[in-house]
Amino acid sequence: MKRYGGAGRDEGDREGLGEMKEMCDPASSLEYHNLTESDVEEVVAFMAQHFYPREPVSTGLHMTYEDNKEWIHGSVREWVRSGVSVVARDPAKGQIAGTILATILTRNQSNTYECALTSPKTKVRTLHTVLSVLEEAVDFFARYEEVDRILELAMITVSEESSGRGIGRKLVQESEARGRALGCQLATAQATAVPSQRLLLRLGYEVLYTLDYGTFQIAGDRVFDMDCMLGTPSAKVMARHIDRK
Ligand SMILES: CC(C)(COP(=O)(O)OP(=O)(O)OC[C@H]1O[C@@H](n2cnc3c(N)ncnc32)[C@H](O)[C@@H]1OP(=O)(O)O)[C@@H](O)C(=O)NCCC(=O)NCCS
Repeated sequence: MKRYGGAGRDEGDREGLGEMKEMCDPASSLEYHNLTESDVEEVVAFMAQHFYPREPVSTGLHMTYEDNKEWIHGSVREWVRSGVSVVARDPAKGQIAGTILATILTRNQSNTYECALTSPKTKVRTLHTVLSVLEEAVDFFARYEEVDRILELAMITVSEESSGRGIGRKLVQESEARGRALGCQLATAQATAVPSQRLLLRLGYEVLYTLDYGTFQIAGDRVFDMDCMLGTPSAKVMARHIDRK
């Protein structure tokens, strides 16, 4: 119910200012906080709804959240511990608008996806073979001798209704800032979709490797259903120095 009088006007004014801020820069009107243990179930449910049905490797392998269920819970918990994963929330509704799940790679721990290569589920093994190929395509520690800590941006998701407003870009920047504070010199990503590739290119990332979905094979078999790649022809391994201006 609309309230009148001094207090009501103040609230109205604040609301008005909030609305104006949101119109000018919707990404800045959200709260960005570190992913915590208490976010895990909500983040997994968010990804079930907004990541798996809209990310080309998943759709091209006909891979749903259900297929990935066991792996994703454990992995999100790992990404909590990294200190570089971020959740964007609408402060008014408390709802998640987007997440970026990331980790820090070191010379002693330089891969993330090998653990699921032995999964009993064929689809999970196929997915993680693709991700491992991408992760191993560029030996960053050999390529950049001065680098000993790498921020690996693993999964970025913005809900469909919040997309195209700069939230994905802001999530990357928030994770980069945390990575920089934790001593990372480089940020890398296996960008599997055109929107994330464009987003990273616009932030100054360069493409170091391209995996063509149409010709990619495992044991002589093509694995992607090219009718379900959502307009993305290839995955790209991308990187940017984050310790330099
Ligand atoms: C990828 C994703 C996170 C982008 O989030 P977003 O909040 O919509 O992105 P932003 O609004 O910050 O856009 C930043 C830049 O990305 C690019 N971009 C975003 N959406 C795009 C789209 N649908 N098509 C082409 N480029 C797109 C644009 O270059 C944009 O910059 P510009 O507007 O200055 O040109 C979102 O589309 C998503 O969650 N997709 C489903 C899951 C997925 O595929 N994740 C990536 C797997 S690696």
